[in-house]
Amino acid sequence: TPLHGFLAALPKCEHHLHLEGTLEPELLFQLAAKNNITLPASKDAAFASIASLKDRYQRFQNLDDFLGYYYIAMSALLDAGDFEALAYAYFAKAASQNVRHAEVFFDPQAHTERGVAFATVVAGFKRAQARATADFGITTELIMCLLKHLPLAEAMSTFAQARDGGYFKDGTLAAIGMDSSELPFPPPMWRDLYDAAAAAGIRRTVHAGEEGPASYMTQALDILNAQRIDHGIRAFLDGDEALVARLAREGTLLTACPLSNIKLQCISSMKEFPLRKMLDAGVRFSINSDDPAYFGGYILENYCALQETFGLSVREWEGIAKGAVQGSWCADERKAEIL
Ligand code: HPA
Ligand code: ZN
Repeated sequence: TPLHGFLAALPKCEHHLHLEGTLEPELLFQLAAKNNITLPASKDAAFASIASLKDRYQRFQNLDDFLGYYYIAMSALLDAGDFEALAYAYFAKAASQNVRHAEVFFDPQAHTERGVAFATVVAGFKRAQARATADFGITTELIMCLLKHLPLAEAMSTFAQARDGGYFKDGTLAAIGMDSSELPFPPPMWRDLYDAAAAAGIRRTVHAGEEGPASYMTQALDILNAQRIDHGIRAFLDGDEALVARLAREGTLLTACPLSNIKLQCISSMKEFPLRKMLDAGVRFSINSDDPAYFGGYILENYCALQETFGLSVREWEGIAKGAVQGSWCADERKAEIL
């Protein structure tokens, strides 16, 4: 790619990255062997080998098709060391691509549901965060995502456990988000959760406008009072001009993930990614990798794939990277260091 060296050197921030989505098939098979976990190869031949699994990752039909693999694979994560190894490998990779600050998601319910304690998951991630900052100077924050395919009551109790355990007050957790299947679970279902987070002074983001319509994004703003929207491309694909104008006016950060959108068939090619519309409308956004072990690229590959298609100028890229720094939830002093 022209500008590859420039894009690699740009100081970057990542805001949409699922730590469980960084589980590369190599590490998956290694952890499954260590933990005596049998991947369901008798039900799905894709689990027979690293190669067949990687091949299957090339052909996701939609979000739910991907999520099936994502939840099975993460069942190989058991002890704190597993979570530490997973997160440290991502932080090392991100730092190598000049990510200076990353705000990353994890899905506690996907682990507590199968008997892994919340404290185990968080302890592993915290060790990885401390080592990565010491080794690479990267700063990181954890965003706890609740799962939309589980009942509101379970999201509420997971949230209450984290809040009452002091995880937000002591800075272990920076915010809440929601992820997993989108279309059957529109934002109004989660009002009580987001009200409780706001009442506790906790930052809030939510996946919306990935497979779901632009109206879900409006609901995320109006009903959930979300301060950030993860994905959000449907505002542009649906041509919702009022919503686009509002996003620009309110400075809401969209955490966009172009390679993810292609792999999950939200768009059929990079040409359909609404980058020009996002820039022209003056909407704040960042470019992110989502689940890089599944979607064929980390943050730099997302920047480069956009550049191949859209051929932006150096100034435009500098503006995008700067907007990502400014849209971060780190302290102003840290932003100034990165910029
Ligand atoms: N969308 C919804 N849920 C997810 C995603 C995503 O892109 N990645 C991991 N869980
Ligand atoms: Zn995501």
